[in-house]
Amino acid sequence: MKRLLSTVLFLSVILSLSACEKKNPFTGNPEAIKAGAELYRTHCERCHGPQGSGGVCPNLTDKDWKYGGSDKDIFRSIASGRPGGMPAWKDIISRDDIWKVIAYIRTLEK
Ligand code: HEC
Repeated sequence: MKRLLSTVLFLSVILSLSACEKKNPFTGNPEAIKAGAELYRTHCERCHGPQGSGGVCPNLTDKDWKYGGSDKDIFRSIASGRPGGMPAWKDIISRDDIWKVIAYIRTLEK
């Protein structure tokens, strides 16, 4: 019984941790958006262009998402990279920083 209880507890911790990846905790947070803009300029602009305008790489301001446009999809694109030349960032910037960049990208949407 005790074992079952700890298994259930363990699973619910795992589930709540993975749930964190689905919603951006920084959406609309002005401080985080400012930090996200800074991160974008440092790491992303050289490929995705000023303000996500694209170029050789995908435009990040339209509704046209090759890999999906939900918070979760975009998080995955950034964290793990994509085969067509998008680097993985999860070992370079923190999870919070990935969310901040997404909060910034959301402000660019047209
Ligand atoms: C070396 C160039 C390069 C850098 C730097 C780069 N990207 Fe990308 N990114 C790409 C390419 C190329 C693709 C398209 C990949 C594909 O189609 O498989 C892409 C795809 C994406 C996508 C998915 C777009 C879609 O339509 O689904 C997102 C989101 C994204 N990048 C965000 C970022 C962010 C945020 C950063 C900075 C942390 C960044 N990228 C840095 C080259 C880059």
